[in-house]
Amino acid sequence: STYTVGYFVGSLSQKSINRVLANALIRVAPPELAFREIPIKDLPLYNHDFDADYPPEGRALKDAIAAVDAVLFVTPEYNRDIPGSLKNAIDWASRPWGTNSFTHKPSAVIGTSPGKIGTAVAQQNLRSILSFCNSPQMNAPEAYIQFAPGLFNDDGEVTDPTTQQFLTDYMSDFRDFVQRVLSVLPPR
Ligand code: FNR
Repeated sequence: STYTVGYFVGSLSQKSINRVLANALIRVAPPELAFREIPIKDLPLYNHDFDADYPPEGRALKDAIAAVDAVLFVTPEYNRDIPGSLKNAIDWASRPWGTNSFTHKPSAVIGTSPGKIGTAVAQQNLRSILSFCNSPQMNAPEAYIQFAPGLFNDDGEVTDPTTQQFLTDYMSDFRDFVQRVLSVLPPR
């Protein structure tokens, strides 16, 4: 079967290295996975007053998640956590109460930074959030990508063969994971 993956880029930067990584992941992904970005940049800051009458931005986000088989988070680390922009999007998607968009939605997390631990702490925190949101997560492999200039070329190709293979395996493992989850947890 084929699966549609909605991906979140946690950075709003025009020059985001995580967007570069997302594009590289799409290039090495197996043919059974189709991708569409779930945009987060135009969301207002969430508060629960919105729950009484969800605005179009919030509804569009929830519709976008409902329309995909799985979600992939490609995120930077800001001060050892995910950026507020991504947390805001997750908060929007988790509400109104009783309509959490992540329930039973398979997910995976990955990210890159120039630092040696490559977003590891942010990813760990994101895993905790996704657990609370009842999203079945791909536990392994983990992927902490240390960014270096030239690791990806302008076409979004990975220049280092070891990283290329690692990312290729990561995406085929994600396909297998999505397949396994959807075989036991029917979409809601
Ligand atoms: C950073 N950066 C960073 N890197 C890291 O590995 N751990 C961290 O905790 C932080 N903290 C942090 C906070 C803030 C406010 C900024 C702007 C940056 C550096 C970060 O990895 C680098 O700027 C990346 O380029 C961010 O990813 P995008 O936005 O390019 O995808």
